[in-house]
Amino acid sequence: CSIKASTSTTSSPPLDVSSGKLKLDRIGSLSQVSGVLGCQWGDEGKGKLVDILAGHFDIVARCQGGANAGHTIYNSEGKKFALHLVPSGILNEETLCVIGSGLVVHLPGLFEEIDNLESNGVSCKGRIVVSDRAHLLFDFHKTVDGLREVERGDNSIGTTKRGIGPCYANKMIRNGLRVGDLRHMDTFPQKLDLLLSDAASRFEGFIYDPKMLEEEVEKYKRFAERLEPFIADTVHVVNKYISDNKKILVEGGQATMLDIDFGTYPFVTSSSASAGGICTGLGIAPKVVGHLIGVVKAYTSRVGAGPFPTELLDDVGDLLRKAGHEFGTTTGRPRRCGWLDIVALKYCCLINGFSSLNLTKLDVLSDFHEIKLGISYKKIDGKIIESFPSNLTVLEQLEEVEYEVLPGWKTDISSIRKYADLPQAAQRYVERIEQLVGIPIHYIGVGPGRDALIFK
Ligand code: GTP
Repeated sequence: CSIKASTSTTSSPPLDVSSGKLKLDRIGSLSQVSGVLGCQWGDEGKGKLVDILAGHFDIVARCQGGANAGHTIYNSEGKKFALHLVPSGILNEETLCVIGSGLVVHLPGLFEEIDNLESNGVSCKGRIVVSDRAHLLFDFHKTVDGLREVERGDNSIGTTKRGIGPCYANKMIRNGLRVGDLRHMDTFPQKLDLLLSDAASRFEGFIYDPKMLEEEVEKYKRFAERLEPFIADTVHVVNKYISDNKKILVEGGQATMLDIDFGTYPFVTSSSASAGGICTGLGIAPKVVGHLIGVVKAYTSRVGAGPFPTELLDDVGDLLRKAGHEFGTTTGRPRRCGWLDIVALKYCCLINGFSSLNLTKLDVLSDFHEIKLGISYKKIDGKIIESFPSNLTVLEQLEEVEYEVLPGWKTDISSIRKYADLPQAAQRYVERIEQLVGIPIHYIGVGPGRDALIFK
């Protein structure tokens, strides 16, 4: 089922402007089940690549996370859509969008997204399926998220306060409610009562009165009715597509450095945002997962607290933030910015086994005289750290990051569509990254638009 690729770098532009679709021969070799995953601390621009590739897949699926993803995509007329739960394949009419079992779903948010898409002419009925095993994220989870952050004081994680962590916590301690529970409204109130009582017993500031349960149950009765046509056993749906030789694209949310196991714990998200999450969050076998594309920004950004070795707290960091519009899609929070961290990127590549990389936002670096790559970490005792440390104290006590300095190109590259037309210095930057991480960069983003992509 692989799509044959042409390695040419100089032929016609990759986008068929009339249909907004990529020409097949420029996509690259992708397998029946392919995935797009973030390599840094999120916001790498995964949404755009997923949207571009989606037209060639029968399913686009999300496997983990919740409405904390905040993908931004554009349709062929340039209209902007900010998606939080709905997979980015929604703009391609023939694509089925799967919200897998590994997600936590806030129904009011999902309906708001669906309403917004439909009012803009994007039909959702019959095009989105929600796993009956996905967990329900209630408004009270958001309250608990806020209370936990207050409780942590100076050690707050800087969560998006969207209730994601508390909802996954309920999943893990096994008192959570799942989408499938909406089909059993007879037992739903008791289960919700247990959940709310548990939160009230844990947090002094959490006020729980019987009226709250009554109101919530009434609300969820209505949601149950509205969601019914979308609910499915997605394990069956996805595996049936696989056995019918159809193609599945998995859209990762967040990124490996935020992965619950491999990220900079505890400053991480609560789900498996790396390759393993594809199997656990969709119920598909590892042997069917083929090509994985890692999405990496040409520099680094991160939202919230936690270690960030190449962070720039000076004017250069400000310039990156401004040029890259580094303010959260979901929360509007300014993002911390710094140079590309090759140590972290190599670690991420090791975990995920990417076939290729998508380097995004190369255009943002166009104003810099020189550009740096963080190639190793040095400890206070002078020792070089080869691999990304698990221990935050080690990260915090780094003496310095060793940088390789490359010349900038000081030219606007946003209208360039062929690799050969990029300035020499930009090509050198791309090729040095490939050399350092040992994985080819097949896609290069030079602007936010769908067509602003170079195929290498
Ligand atoms: P998370 O799942 O929350 O981590 O988000 P994401 O990785 O999907 O990021 P998103 O798609 O929201 O992209 C972030 C922003 O970068 C959006 O505003 C995109 O339009 C923009 N963007 C994507 N690629 C490029 C690029 O190559 N250049 C520029 N200038 N902007 C880009």
